[in-house]
Amino acid sequence: MSLCDFRRHRCFLHKLLILILLASSGIFLFKYTYKPCTLQDLRDGTNSAKNQICKDKLYRLLRLSPEEHHELNCSRIMKGDSDAIRKALEVNADFKKKSIYLNEQWYLNLTADCQKFKDYRKYLTIPMDKKEEDFPIAYSMVIHENIEMFERLLRAIYVPQNIYCVHVDEKSPVQFKEAVKAITSCFDNVFVASKTEKVIYASWSRVQADLNCMEDLLKSNIQWKYLINTCGSDFPIKSNAEIVHVLQTLNGKNTMESEKPSQIKLNRWKYHFKVDNSISKTDIEKMPPPITTPMFTGSAYIVVSRDFVKYIFEDSQVQQFINWTKDTYSPDEHLWATLNRMPGVPGSSPSHGKYEQSDMNAKARMVKWSYDEGDISKGAAYPLCTGIHRRAVCVYGAGDLSWLIKQHHLFANKFDPKVDNTALQCMEEYLRHKTLYKNNL
Ligand SMILES: *[C@@H]1O[C@H](CO)[C@@H](O)[C@H](O)[C@H]1NC(C)=O
Ligand SMILES: *[C@@H]1O[C@H](CO)[C@@H](O)[C@H](O)[C@H]1NC(C)=O
Ligand SMILES: *[C@@H]1O[C@H](CO)[C@@H](O)[C@H](O)[C@H]1NC(C)=O
Repeated sequence: MSLCDFRRHRCFLHKLLILILLASSGIFLFKYTYKPCTLQDLRDGTNSAKNQICKDKLYRLLRLSPEEHHELNCSRIMKGDSDAIRKALEVNADFKKKSIYLNEQWYLNLTADCQKFKDYRKYLTIPMDKKEEDFPIAYSMVIHENIEMFERLLRAIYVPQNIYCVHVDEKSPVQFKEAVKAITSCFDNVFVASKTEKVIYASWSRVQADLNCMEDLLKSNIQWKYLINTCGSDFPIKSNAEIVHVLQTLNGKNTMESEKPSQIKLNRWKYHFKVDNSISKTDIEKMPPPITTPMFTGSAYIVVSRDFVKYIFEDSQVQQFINWTKDTYSPDEHLWATLNRMPGVPGSSPSHGKYEQSDMNAKARMVKWSYDEGDISKGAAYPLCTGIHRRAVCVYGAGDLSWLIKQHHLFANKFDPKVDNTALQCMEEYLRHKTLYKNNL
């Protein structure tokens, strides 16, 4: 016979008391662990227990990891582990065989319910910290195909405080345009350019596409501080917080490739080029450029301040110069580079040779050109491409990533899920991890 049978009443009270104590401590624990996380908890830089719990919770919701490929260990791939990279090659070969890519119809279906689309694709919908929130960035995204790549790029750079203009080529199929429209319509801060161009390779239309976006972006209410332009095969190699940090340290300067032109490139603006379905040289000699400083060459991909963008629409000398470049060959590759070395242009540098900026020293875009690849210890610019080459440019493979993420560039070109999906998957997982925890995967 137990004690309780004798003193049933007291024993009951005793048990009740224990129960209450247990329950309340349970509630306490529950409250501590499961109290909804506020933005404050998440952003609290102290790494408190609560902060850690909240980050973990959000990371579980937003983690971009290749769930269907457990064999893929991105943490090891990002560190350059050769076994993990070899495994990625197998995973990628298998993926290519199955060739399951997200198509326009898939996006049209999913975006019928925008909330569902954002949840399912794990979009980041809150600004991760105050510094980023106070430093909005404008994007001009010029695309013409590969809807999956576009959407994955958008997801990688999307934060609610930035603004994104998407220029879709007039020539793109209707389905593609509709899918882009459907995706952009799910966000207040993503839109399709109000004017669109038929973009002809190496012609003025490529610049006009960016100008259309720039004009729209200047009209937006968002007081963005810098503008970055991208194409359909670009992917970030830095998180938004890191990009903001780099832009802040630029201190109003632009960053882009801008160098003295090679002898061959001088021909690009010596003659009048004519454009129909493609661009061709004529024998008509052009007038020299209407500027007092020299011409420079660089890349179509730039990082420029808001003041730079405003200035090029307002300044009459710049307007004349822009007009003069319209019938040159690939004006995208000398217009920005020259403006960036012109006195008076916001964020520019002097034309003096001390200010030469190669693509490697500028921060806008990391591109691996086949002819500069090789053994760095023997003088090459960068290690061999582990993906494939397209028009002499490396389309990155998983083996390129550990080197790539050590570079100071904000973006890298080219990525393509149809060449190496694992490279993209690992970049996605790495960047999402970095966004939440600010450290490496
Ligand atoms: C990846 O490998 C590391 C060891 O290098 C291991 O700690 C980690 O758990 C692995 N991750 C996955 C998802 O298998
Ligand atoms: C889109 O939805 C329709 C109707 O629900 C379905 O038949 C079709 O398979 C879906 N397409 C894709 C690509 O998911
Ligand atoms: C633009 O350039 C064309 C051809 O080079 C020229 O005929 C025209 O006068 C220029 N317009 C302005 C506003 O500079």
